[in-house]
Amino acid sequence: MPLNFVGSHILSVDQFDRESIERIFAVADQMIPYALRQRVTRVLEGAILGNMFFEPSTRTRVSFGCAWNLLGGEVRETTGLKASALAKGESFYDTARVLSGYSDLIVMRHEKMGSVAEFAEASRVPVINGGDGANEHPSQALLDLYTIGRELTDQGKTIDGMRIALVGDLRYGRAVHSLCKLLGIYKDITLSLISPEALRLPESYIYSLRMAGHQVIESTDLGQGLQSADIVYVTRTQEERFESPEEALRYKGLFRLNQAVYTEYCEPNTVIMHPLPRDTRAEANELDNDLNDNPNLAIFRQTDNGVLIRMALFALILDVADQIEQTSRTVNWYTAKRF
Ligand code: CP
Repeated sequence: MPLNFVGSHILSVDQFDRESIERIFAVADQMIPYALRQRVTRVLEGAILGNMFFEPSTRTRVSFGCAWNLLGGEVRETTGLKASALAKGESFYDTARVLSGYSDLIVMRHEKMGSVAEFAEASRVPVINGGDGANEHPSQALLDLYTIGRELTDQGKTIDGMRIALVGDLRYGRAVHSLCKLLGIYKDITLSLISPEALRLPESYIYSLRMAGHQVIESTDLGQGLQSADIVYVTRTQEERFESPEEALRYKGLFRLNQAVYTEYCEPNTVIMHPLPRDTRAEANELDNDLNDNPNLAIFRQTDNGVLIRMALFALILDVADQIEQTSRTVNWYTAKRF
């Protein structure tokens, strides 16, 4: 059944069916003139976002904040566990009761799996999961899927029937976990999973994908796994989820996508994606800078699309998607070309 967005928490992509996803994507398309700074809207004027990030973030935190600002609202945020009273032993319950008195909607990230759901239970306003440990990252999966759809449409292809290669740390990567669940909703997808044995995608995801009729092929060979892919989705070794940096180091640098590998094994138009941040340190470098001028590199189109998706989620949850135009006008300042 389609999700009734109004007033809902967004905690997991399990909440979405295909119709709900198409609704989000349609509203995201509506947001393009605002994200491009061609138009402004004040539809959320007076509303306050509590942007609560208890774990490091660059793009999720800032793009949620920008998305809210672009709809006319104000943002209050906390960054880092140590800067919050959680570090003094305050519970998620008390934190949620307090912060939901200050905000119309809260986005939260925390390192513990299930933490955002626990927080949401006590919250008096809707909560969006900005990433809970190795569990889920729903808005990232939505922006990834939206990007995949747009990139494939440009090539005359569809998500149904595509071939995607997922590379790297598939065990701890929450963006991959949420994306795999979303892909399960589509049809006839071939997934090539390329990872070290110890960092395989958890069996439950593979089982669900196969039960949904998709083909799942696992490999430890990058070149072999990349062949025939429409999309290659590279991930970072999630060192913050390992027992020690030394343990994570064993897996860094095992799979490196660079222009030479791309030319040898990928199709001429294979789209290159990464949820970011990419680890550009020499020991890792899973996605090389020598791909920066490759037109198939979609990583910054992903980050731009994140603003559209997050604006759409806000508009749907707060029930203003049909009111955007009412407070809309063209901008009166110089606007650089961004997309
Ligand atoms: N993709 C992602 O979640 O990036 P940040 O950690 O910078 O938010």
